[in-house]
Amino acid sequence: MIKKCLFPVAGYGTRFLPATKAMPKEMLPIVNKPLVQYGVEEAIEAGLVDIGLITGRGKRAIVDHFDVNYELEHQISGTSKEESLASIRNVMQKASFSITRQVEMRGLGDAILNGKRLVGDEPFGVVLSDDLCLPGEEGEGVMAQMVKLFKQFRCSIVAIQEVPDELIHKFGVIQGEQIKDGLYQVTDMVEKPKLEDAPSNLAIIGRYILTPDIFDIIENTPPGKNGEVQLTDALLTQAKNGCVLAYKFKGRRFDCGSVEGFVEATNFVYENIYKG
Ligand code: UTP
Repeated sequence: MIKKCLFPVAGYGTRFLPATKAMPKEMLPIVNKPLVQYGVEEAIEAGLVDIGLITGRGKRAIVDHFDVNYELEHQISGTSKEESLASIRNVMQKASFSITRQVEMRGLGDAILNGKRLVGDEPFGVVLSDDLCLPGEEGEGVMAQMVKLFKQFRCSIVAIQEVPDELIHKFGVIQGEQIKDGLYQVTDMVEKPKLEDAPSNLAIIGRYILTPDIFDIIENTPPGKNGEVQLTDALLTQAKNGCVLAYKFKGRRFDCGSVEGFVEATNFVYENIYKG
């Protein structure tokens, strides 16, 4: 069914300078694993095994991470250290990777449009790997939860969470009619609103399932907030013409694009996953 998943990883990650001067922010490790690998593992768990990386200049390390490093692997072959490569080997065995480049940083909508050829005429997932999403109590990842919903409703789905008033200006915010517990049909969406203009406290986070008509819509979407082609604007058009759902996912999200969220995620993963 859905097999493809785009990873827009072209952004500059300026909030982490100077760390991100020569290194992509998606390669920042949460304990011992880079952010982007968490995202890819979540996609694979959901059955999305054709991974499309939308990269930019200075992002080679991401592509190398999902490739064999012969010298290193030869060096540690047969030693106890080999075990440390088990998770990335597993990823490489299960998924295939295609790479395309976003030439200019013109926003998330534009980044996704660069994946048009890779995706073709199929529904697809989008993961923003600086949002680290860990499964809820039932142990199912966020993308897997969304794929299940897609099978039922067959329209674009955005993941949402409730955010406090002081953070609302950082997100795309939806207004919707509740269909069932935790699921809304979107009627309005605003990108990074002032608190007084926000239609709710339900904010879009970095997980999407999109139907392929979104590409034509993005092509016809003029630059919006900050002069960038906003995915939120295209999704609003899609919602008005048909249907977009917003899903309050089960699990935990950490905003690893910010230093605070990154530190919080590191502590959480160290205590709850790494130490076992
Ligand atoms: P962000 O705005 O959070 O990422 O974009 P950024 O620009 O890299 O971070 P700061 O604000 O400078 O620290 C969300 C996601 O969309 C991707 C980014 O790589 C990130 O994963 N993105 C954004 C693109 O791939 N292309 C763009 O033009 C914009």
